[in-house]
Amino acid sequence: MKETEIDWKNLSFGYLPTDYNVRCTFKDGKWGPIEVSDSEYIPIHISASCLHYGQESFEGLKAFRGKDGKVRVFRMRENARRFINSAHGIKMEPMPEDLFCEMVKKVVKLNERFVPPYGTGASLYIRPLEIGISPLLGVKPAKEYMVVMLVSPVGPYFKDGFKPTKVCLSREYDRVAPKGTGAIKIGGNYAASLVAGEKAHELGYSVMLYLDPKEKKYLDECGAANFFGIKDNTYVTPASPSVLPSITNMSLRQLAEDLGIKVEQRHIPIDELPTFEEVGACGTAAVISPVGEIDDLDTGEKYVFAKDGQAGPVSTRLYNKLRGIQLGEEPDTHGWCDIIEFD
Ligand code: PLP
Ligand code: COI
Repeated sequence: MKETEIDWKNLSFGYLPTDYNVRCTFKDGKWGPIEVSDSEYIPIHISASCLHYGQESFEGLKAFRGKDGKVRVFRMRENARRFINSAHGIKMEPMPEDLFCEMVKKVVKLNERFVPPYGTGASLYIRPLEIGISPLLGVKPAKEYMVVMLVSPVGPYFKDGFKPTKVCLSREYDRVAPKGTGAIKIGGNYAASLVAGEKAHELGYSVMLYLDPKEKKYLDECGAANFFGIKDNTYVTPASPSVLPSITNMSLRQLAEDLGIKVEQRHIPIDELPTFEEVGACGTAAVISPVGEIDDLDTGEKYVFAKDGQAGPVSTRLYNKLRGIQLGEEPDTHGWCDIIEFD
């Protein structure tokens, strides 16, 4: 596809083919060289552990074309570290942080023409994934692994972008088990969320807001994003062993502190919902997605946050600050962005 044919401003969050992906294989106890491929397919043994027993993890990060024309990748070392945690969580070989970062830089460089222009609201989504590739029948970890990184230019995850969406909650579904895999980023968690997610869509909601899987009392994960609420100049987000430690959330907590907003990471009982002035979901794909209403499907209770259909003032300030850093409009005082050098 020619980049001149892409309608950058109207991109959705979906897959678009690009020029290259990069791959690296762990075999005979070591990682091999980074390989460049122009194929959209990978050869997989029919008995590979990823196919049978779900040995698969993935990441999501973004590259942005800045105001100054430079391309910035946001917090890739944090993604590298989480990728390592995910590997440990399902007994895969962890990819060294530096190798992960080298692959990220390489795949962005190779696909420079797909980094969306500044001012379009779009970005280049980078999707690393790791799979167990050894042929197995018994349930045990593979000996060989492959990491693939592909990229795709994307627009907003929720079609309304930075506009409040409606979310539902229910006690009927769990995304993960209490001491399960919720805090790591593995494909199995997403497969397990599809029934609830599709139920939410069928009912006209953007996502399912999960309650903690143990007591069903506290707010947990918000679809494929973290939950936050704002009240009394305080940013409140769940402390839960079953939510993914979001790098966006980590960044927003820092930005909130920078802006003089207090930060609390703690259990949030459902009963506290009516006290929030603003509510949102945050993540790499979602950025900040303001939540205008939460409907409890079991009790019929409705919690309304955005009466005027607009994002609240604190969410807006945080969103602008985060975007500003990613787009090189604001000083990167925390050193979160890596600038990609093109030859
Ligand atoms: N929670 C889940 C389940 C996710 O899939 C994601 C997306 O990566 C997030 C939270 C947000 O994490 P991050 O901000 O690191 O993208
Ligand atoms: C992300 O925000 O990067 C995600 O991985 C969420 C979703 C697309 C799975």
